[in-house]
Amino acid sequence: MVPWPYPRLFAHRCGGALAPENTLAGLRAAARAGCRAVEFDVMLSGSGTPVLIHDETWDRTTDGSGRVAETPDDAVARLDAGSWFGREFAGEPVPTFEQAARMCRELGLAANVEIKPAAGHEAETGRAVALAAARWWQGAALAPLLSSFSAAALTAARNSGTGLALGMLVGAVPADWFDRVARLGCYSLHCDAAYNPAATLANVVRRGVPVLCYTVNEPERAAELLQSGVAAVVSDRVDAMTFE
Ligand code: G3P
Ligand code: MG
Repeated sequence: MVPWPYPRLFAHRCGGALAPENTLAGLRAAARAGCRAVEFDVMLSGSGTPVLIHDETWDRTTDGSGRVAETPDDAVARLDAGSWFGREFAGEPVPTFEQAARMCRELGLAANVEIKPAAGHEAETGRAVALAAARWWQGAALAPLLSSFSAAALTAARNSGTGLALGMLVGAVPADWFDRVARLGCYSLHCDAAYNPAATLANVVRRGVPVLCYTVNEPERAAELLQSGVAAVVSDRVDAMTFE
């Protein structure tokens, strides 16, 4: 197994609970909190541009509505992704993947880029995100780790030929996890800490596949997981954690 080259703590959706999710303000907040790595979600806009957003629609996290995959870039650029979270974040834009990548590099943040395809756009998104990631992190000491719940997106990312490391995302670890990780050519397994007993995680650790657990917000729980051999945790409360 290649030793885990990333930090052990990733801020969830850029800045966790410190800022509106999937925004540049979140990246700044994570760095300010002393965090050295971030996780964020990337989907394609209607123009085919990779942008940071979790849901398939704009409604929950911006002042807009409608489907991300049907919204052209000029309309994306007019959205406010900060006001829903707090008045001090009013006018915070929906970042492009390029803007987020540049800021990660400026702030020295390692990245776990979650490929979050809109339904029906799995392969296209996996390929586009991998190619863009290879471009934006060209020459970087530490390339981003790409992950996805979508096998089709992971396959397309792998077939892009960029050679970037991939993580297979699941909720509960399935019985056939090892075969699936191998078949998809993944480096790591990312799973929900809430749905996996210690014995399941210990089994993955024993087989030499790096495990990343989300979303872990209590410092004691994070310490316990890392102690058990989990490689890293994704958290909304990076400000509460005492390790990096
Ligand atoms: O990548 C870990 C975590 O972000 C997966 O869940 O729904 O927050 O993207 P979600
Ligand atoms: Mg995510």
